[in-house]
Amino acid sequence: MRILVTGGAGYIGSHTCIELIKANYEVIVVDNLCNSSVESLKRVEGLVDRKIPFHKVDIRDKDSLTKVFEQYQIDGVIHFAALKAVAESVEKPIEYYDVNVNGTVVLANVMREFNCKIFVFSSSATVYGDPHTLPIKEDFPLTATNPYGRSKLIIEEFLKDIFIADDSWRISLLRYFNPIGADKSGLIGEDPKGTPNNLISYISQVAVGKLEKLSVFGGDYDTSDGTGVRDYIHVSDLAKGHVKALKVLKDKPQLLIVNLGTGNGYSVLDIVKAFKRVSGKDIPYHIVGRRPGDIPTCYTDPAYAKEKLNWNAEYELEDMCEDTWRWQSMNPDGY
Ligand code: NAD
Ligand code: WQD
Repeated sequence: MRILVTGGAGYIGSHTCIELIKANYEVIVVDNLCNSSVESLKRVEGLVDRKIPFHKVDIRDKDSLTKVFEQYQIDGVIHFAALKAVAESVEKPIEYYDVNVNGTVVLANVMREFNCKIFVFSSSATVYGDPHTLPIKEDFPLTATNPYGRSKLIIEEFLKDIFIADDSWRISLLRYFNPIGADKSGLIGEDPKGTPNNLISYISQVAVGKLEKLSVFGGDYDTSDGTGVRDYIHVSDLAKGHVKALKVLKDKPQLLIVNLGTGNGYSVLDIVKAFKRVSGKDIPYHIVGRRPGDIPTCYTDPAYAKEKLNWNAEYELEDMCEDTWRWQSMNPDGY
């Protein structure tokens, strides 16, 4: 089976290429490299000892995308390509709606033209907003608090409408919790441009000496130690979830909505401690005010993923920090 991976040079995409190839899928990547480099794919090729056809294509460019579909007979698409920085989305809503929403519409349109109806979509736990109860189940109410989250919500609704109009599609909406970690090899990992927004990237740059100290956003939440709690999931576990979703979609046309997380919540200070332990480095931090838009606590109920995908996360927090550190210390300046 041949899978087109949009955004396949990025963080989650590159790790998913590895798992797809290990599971004997053929992989084609399109990416416009706005937040990644082809070096990630070169390293993936080395790790799996296989060439990955790559096309530098913007998903909004219908003609270029059509050419890719003409060149290869594509059976299904895993759609990672998107802009993903929450704060930037508030500043640049037009760009976010254009790439995320319009890009997905262009992609789905080309897929329909080529009768390619297997679609795995990268959604996010952000679509649950600030949940009333925990753990988060797939049937919880959905909401959005920023343009990035709203773009994910709109795409989810768009894909649901596609399925309502034509139930021969096989669509999966995968709602990721907080992906961290890196491939065990230390050769690929998250390579944020500029100062990182996300916790683990920030901590690893403090550990490697590129940043001075971590600002912990809020010490007065109603959590065990007052800092925000999240469900961190190893990116390689997350990648395997995509392979499982493809397998389930192969059975029959359906709309499959699944949370991908571990079910465990860890606080910011838990992460600082674990990272300190595995890296042997000091992580200086200070507690500052809450970051606007942050929620106190977020973790999934992993039962539905187990039931529907026969998938569960295997790596522990220690592995996630250890693998992040291996990637960061082997590649202090990224790719
Ligand atoms: P990433 O930025 O590393 O990967 C996205 C890739 O898409 C990049 O390689 C980028 O160059 C590419 N891209 C962006 N715009 C494009 C366009 N117009 N045309 C073609 N390629 C384009 O991000 P990631 O962390 O790997 O995220 C992958 C997906 O998962 C995204 O859809 C993101 O919204 C979603 N997601 C990420 C997280 C997270 O915390 N990392 C959490 C939930 C959901
Ligand atoms: C985690 C915790 C922060 C940085 C974001 C997006 C979400 C999804 C994943 C794409 C929080 C705290 C962070 C720092 C800190 N992305 N923190 N100091 O906010 O849970 O989720 O990425 O879909 O949509 O919102 O992840 O890593 O930014 O924060 O104290 O310098 O770490 O307050 O409690 P978040 P994060």
